[in-house]
Amino acid sequence: MNILFIGDVVGRPGRTVLREHLSQLIHEHKIDFTIVNGENAAHGKGITERIFNELIGYGADVITMGNHTYSKASIYDIIDHKQLIVPLNMEMPVNAQGYRTFEVMNKKVLVSNMCTMAFMQNVIASPYTISDAIIASDADIKIVDLHGEATAEKIAYMHYYKHDLTAIVGTHTHIQTADEDIFNGCAYISDVGMCGSYESIIGRDIAEVHAQLVNKEHTHYTVSKNPAVLCGVVITIDDETNRAVNIQRIQIRPSS
Ligand code: FE2
Repeated sequence: MNILFIGDVVGRPGRTVLREHLSQLIHEHKIDFTIVNGENAAHGKGITERIFNELIGYGADVITMGNHTYSKASIYDIIDHKQLIVPLNMEMPVNAQGYRTFEVMNKKVLVSNMCTMAFMQNVIASPYTISDAIIASDADIKIVDLHGEATAEKIAYMHYYKHDLTAIVGTHTHIQTADEDIFNGCAYISDVGMCGSYESIIGRDIAEVHAQLVNKEHTHYTVSKNPAVLCGVVITIDDETNRAVNIQRIQIRPSS
């Protein structure tokens, strides 16, 4: 089984690059299941019902989220949607899910979303105290979108759970790391990177960030309009053992 994991889609440029490349990637890599992190898809923070449907329309089978999950009130219109997974360790509405199991090629594939602790707000529990239900699940394949700032925290989580999980994919920093590997049959990357403006500051307008950082201006989050890079990983899982055997980084930069 081949699983495609696409990193944080940031605003319109991120959605555009996904529209341009996703169906081709799915075809080229013989993808059976596609996970897209959509927590920055609507104007850089959160997601709306319309944009959720847009990402599903491009080929996503499931949308995972992160610390900006509740930035747009429209999330509550789709909070119980079977293709939406929100962080398990942020306070969540009763009808939301922090993990779900999908039927893919006669296998049960569990996908979860959780935040790490360092520099993250509104995280109410350590990833270690909430992972028991995932470990106890009878799913054949278990994938965690680990949404966080600190690489060491993500690596520590991977070494603790590498025997139990099939893949741990870091999200949130928007910068793709080059440490993808298989550890004890668990595919891992500290950060998968983003689908967002390539010439930007993690998807945000450069001049706006400088105005805030250098001139101390009070600015609003402005998504860069520059063409976007697409980042993701393809994870190959052995059909006999249900363990990961390969992880390949994908990065498509805009042509200059
Ligand atoms: Fe985030």
